[in-house]
Amino acid sequence: MREPRRPLPPRRPLLLLLLSLLFFSVPETAAAPPRTSGRDGGGVASITWMAWPMKCTWLPLPTCGKSHSYDLVSKYHKIWKDTKDAVPAKDVFRKEPISGAIALKGSMKYFDADFFNDSKLREMEDGAKEFNVPAFRDNRKLVALENGGLNNPSALVFKSSWSDESKISEKKSFEYPHTSSVHRPSKDEDIAFMSIIELVELIRTKQVTSRELTDVFLKRLKRYGPVIESVITVTDDLAYKQAKEADDLLEQGKYLGPLHGIPYGLKDIIAVPEYKTTWGSRTFENQVLDIEASVYKRLKSTGAVLVAKLVTGSLAYDDIWFGGRTRNPWNIEEFSTGSSAGPAASTSAGMVPFAIGSETAGSITYPAARCGVTALRPTFGTVARTGVMSISESLDKLGPFCRSAIDCAVVLDAIRGKDAGDPSSREVPIEDPFHIDITQVTVGYLDSAEMEVVYVLSAKGVKLVPFKLNYTVESVQSILNITMDVDMLAHFDNWQREQHDDDFEAQDQWPVELRRARLIPAVDYLQAQRARGKLIKEVKESFTVDAFIGNVTDWELVCLGNLVGMPVAVVPTGFKNVENPPKGSTRRRTTVTTGIYAPPDHDHIALALAMAYQSVTDHHKQRPPIDDLGPGDNIQH
Ligand SMILES: *[C@@H]1O[C@H](CO)[C@@H](O)[C@H](O)[C@H]1NC(C)=O
Ligand SMILES: *[C@@H]1O[C@H](CO)[C@@H](O)[C@H](O)[C@H]1NC(C)=O
Ligand SMILES: *[C@@H]1O[C@H](CO)[C@@H](O)[C@H](O)[C@H]1NC(C)=O
Ligand SMILES: *[C@@H]1O[C@H](CO)[C@@H](O)[C@H](O)[C@H]1NC(C)=O
Repeated sequence: MREPRRPLPPRRPLLLLLLSLLFFSVPETAAAPPRTSGRDGGGVASITWMAWPMKCTWLPLPTCGKSHSYDLVSKYHKIWKDTKDAVPAKDVFRKEPISGAIALKGSMKYFDADFFNDSKLREMEDGAKEFNVPAFRDNRKLVALENGGLNNPSALVFKSSWSDESKISEKKSFEYPHTSSVHRPSKDEDIAFMSIIELVELIRTKQVTSRELTDVFLKRLKRYGPVIESVITVTDDLAYKQAKEADDLLEQGKYLGPLHGIPYGLKDIIAVPEYKTTWGSRTFENQVLDIEASVYKRLKSTGAVLVAKLVTGSLAYDDIWFGGRTRNPWNIEEFSTGSSAGPAASTSAGMVPFAIGSETAGSITYPAARCGVTALRPTFGTVARTGVMSISESLDKLGPFCRSAIDCAVVLDAIRGKDAGDPSSREVPIEDPFHIDITQVTVGYLDSAEMEVVYVLSAKGVKLVPFKLNYTVESVQSILNITMDVDMLAHFDNWQREQHDDDFEAQDQWPVELRRARLIPAVDYLQAQRARGKLIKEVKESFTVDAFIGNVTDWELVCLGNLVGMPVAVVPTGFKNVENPPKGSTRRRTTVTTGIYAPPDHDHIALALAMAYQSVTDHHKQRPPIDDLGPGDNIQH
């Protein structure tokens, strides 16, 4: 709550209020929740003011009579007359000891804790002023003056590992397959839709330089970016510098591995020095963070080439950002969903070979499914988030958007690992997905699984059984809400206090949720974490298979998977006709997708199964009709 430094309200409203008290026919609606966050209605003074007439509705009827009200009115009127010369409202009401407690009493309803009697409330009020508020202010000054970022991470560290012993595993790189006899296609568009391991083979055999590849993708970013609205910053200078380094190294006979010279994009919540890191938000549109995010550092050291900072929905929510709204390349008249809107749409449209996005609750799975790309939401903690905008320290994860599960494995191998700046990151003991014998694996399928995947994997020798997760925790979605919203508000406390939320791009999204988060007591936040512990235990006990196949956009499963920290591979499995097709023939399609879920630390199982499925199907290789534009759109030449 802001400082109550408002002078007394002007005389007329006061008199009106007095009159309404005199007749004490205050309707129930007058006792509506006090405004605490309007532009000019904030502060304790106005809350007390509005709470005042509510008194009658709380008192037993006999005492709520005319004479009582009249006494009150005379008393307040006198206080007002005595003190109206520039005395802050707060001090006037301090003379009437009950008034503050009444305001608190009104508020306690929204904490679901309205069982304190008046003397207890008074005591609480004094205690809060004396002890709580100074502590809040001290802590805020200490750690919360900056918005976002993983600064001052909480000591409450979430471990998604299910194993008891602390395995000290030497990180061994995956042995990914080499593709032989790859030939450079004549058309740039065919190059743009090649997989990473095909592209790097072209580079390694010197059929193409990194600079040439960079040119191909920069051209596409500039051509399609404005139509798809999926690009925030094209990083030309940096890209050409990194491409030159990659080409020079190869000239010297130094080959860094499967990402050598490969262009890619980063969701714009990931900091790269000298370029804007906008978080997709109007408030931070011009922000430059002089930080090398650890995921960027790792990609740089593998020789990859950053070509663009891609759209994140504003403050990593949905697909609306300060410059527009990202569209689905498979159907331009539809939006991409979010919040990794740019990574999903840009990978889908062949504007980058791969991109890094993030998920707190659905931000990888939803846009990957909508845009028909293969993606991995890894086990929580696999990829360090140093230098990345923070929503929830126990939920946020970074992951790859690619053309295939093989590429996802290659990128994951490059970006995984502990970083000192992110206490939740760890060396997750993921095995080599290219060396899994899937015939030894038992896979469950939910009712919502795409059956084609079930049949294909079955034909490949995987054991498939019908499956259902069994858990008693009912409020999976509300646990997610409480955790995510309170954590987010902690990272954007100052942003809300300074009322930047009034400028947020979609008022019904973060602003509403984060105001609501103000009324979540710490006790209940921790109770939600206890409920989350129970959920994890039950899911672990009922996870009797090695992996399961199910709907990847089902909200309950999205919340559950994220609360548990469970990995999921997003796999395109086909197409449907669009609902309202444009006149004439159209190549626009609705993508169909499924999820392959594995227990934490078993990303290799999900990836191996996705690779097995993709080895005999080609849904993931289809190209979206990005030249089939919506009305009023045109493409830059
Ligand atoms: C509130 O409850 C406490 C403890 O039961 C009691 O001592 C006190 O008198 C009560 N105050 C009022 C105003 O009822
Ligand atoms: C589901 O879990 C409950 C409670 O743990 C247990 O009683 C029940 O037997 C389980 N059901 C199945 C099908 O495993
Ligand atoms: C979680 O928050 C979203 C967004 O405000 C809301 O639509 C949804 O109803 C909430 N769910 C629960 C269970 O609180
Ligand atoms: C997956 O879940 C989404 C969201 O609930 C729903 O629209 C879709 O129809 C589901 N798909 C299947 C195959 O159940």
